[in-house]
Amino acid sequence: MDHGTADQAPEILLSRYEIEQRVGELAAAITEDYHGSTPHLVGILRGAWVFMADLIRHIDIDVTIDFLGITSYGSGTHSSGEVKITKDLDVSIEGRDVLIVEDILDTGRTFRFLQDMLHIHKPRSLRLVTLLDKTSRRLVDVHADYVGFEIPDVFVVGYGLDFNQRYRQLPDLRVLRSQRSV
Ligand code: PRP
Repeated sequence: MDHGTADQAPEILLSRYEIEQRVGELAAAITEDYHGSTPHLVGILRGAWVFMADLIRHIDIDVTIDFLGITSYGSGTHSSGEVKITKDLDVSIEGRDVLIVEDILDTGRTFRFLQDMLHIHKPRSLRLVTLLDKTSRRLVDVHADYVGFEIPDVFVVGYGLDFNQRYRQLPDLRVLRSQRSV
């Protein structure tokens, strides 16, 4: 498995300014759609936390938040589809309008797992907002209710997303120059 080298300078795919603009638009749509409710935002660790921190500060209605820790088995740039919980929810979601917050929707396996797991706890509604959507990689028939950007099949880092746990702190979304193989 060739992961390339992490020292290659990543190139900007989406600048911090484009992201800020789009996050504001997503928050406005969420504010409108959930008017009269107090949505419960569940951020999926670890990639989603930067996006979620920005998103909630643009939402103009009351929200509550929680986090769910997930890890996919497998290594490198592609998951095996097997998912393990590393941090469970702290608060009941029964009867709540739950909005899952993800950094990226890829094969869709993680979201399908989350749908199956969270529905058991009887939320009133369950939706997904994802900053990035790689529709070309979908293996499971799921879709997000709110999508920031549809992107091609390139390996993206920054704004919370990592490569071997690096790059999460970069303010822009960047593409590692070489597309690594599985
Ligand atoms: C990413 C992302 C989703 C998942 C999506 O997490 O945050 O949870 O992959 O992929 P899928 O649609 O193919 O299931 P990742 O495994 O990179 O972990 P991280 O959030 O801790 O960086």
